[in-house]
Amino acid sequence: MINIIGLGPGNDDYITKLGERLIYSSEILIGGKRNLETIKDFKGEKIELASNLKEILEYINSNAHKQISVIASGDPSIYGIGKYLSKNIDNKKLNIVSGISSLQYIFSKIHVDMNDLYITSSHGKIPDFDYILSHTKVCMVTDNKIGPHEISKEILSRNLKKTIVVGENLSYDDEKITIAKPEEILKIDKFDMNVVVILDEK
Ligand SMILES: C[S@@+](CC[C@H](N)C(=O)[O-])C[C@H]1O[C@@H](n2cnc3c(N)ncnc32)[C@H](O)[C@@H]1O
Repeated sequence: MINIIGLGPGNDDYITKLGERLIYSSEILIGGKRNLETIKDFKGEKIELASNLKEILEYINSNAHKQISVIASGDPSIYGIGKYLSKNIDNKKLNIVSGISSLQYIFSKIHVDMNDLYITSSHGKIPDFDYILSHTKVCMVTDNKIGPHEISKEILSRNLKKTIVVGENLSYDDEKITIAKPEEILKIDKFDMNVVVILDEK
């Protein structure tokens, strides 16, 4: 069986009991460096996932008789590896275990419900900001090309009244949550790994 297990936002207190049990009963653990490091005292083999996705897929498909767990940050089905692996592995052999997404985590922290939320990402694409900013409540996973600064500029160039929430290093010791207007976000030099929430100004 191939498990794809969401680890939650980062701090291992957020891994589900089911996810943890499946991880430690696996023969092989596959994941990014940061995620593999969070799984301490694993007795089986660890394989690092980087830009070798195709080889990893071939490896998984030819070892599908083994107990393999692929670990992913947050929830694997929210801008994670779940989509690619679901398309390329026989679904009868696949068990996806949800994790707490960084998106869910930030909404709990700011006491805002996720009802009618529009979820999107800037990873590997040019976002359609006219469409994105037409929503009253948006959450965006970001990358090093498009993040809080670029989003703020897009809001200001359309003269929109929005509040921005930037959640950095969520669930880690250096977690930081900034709630500000776009013009204030532009005054902040840099942001670490983050998700951005865009809310209509009240
Ligand atoms: C490939 S996406 C994966 C999202 C993940 N599947 C989830 O549900 O949280 C990676 C992006 O998620 C966001 N992210 C993941 N973990 C985070 C954390 N602990 N703090 C802030 N942002 C995080 C960042 O925008 C990062 O660039």
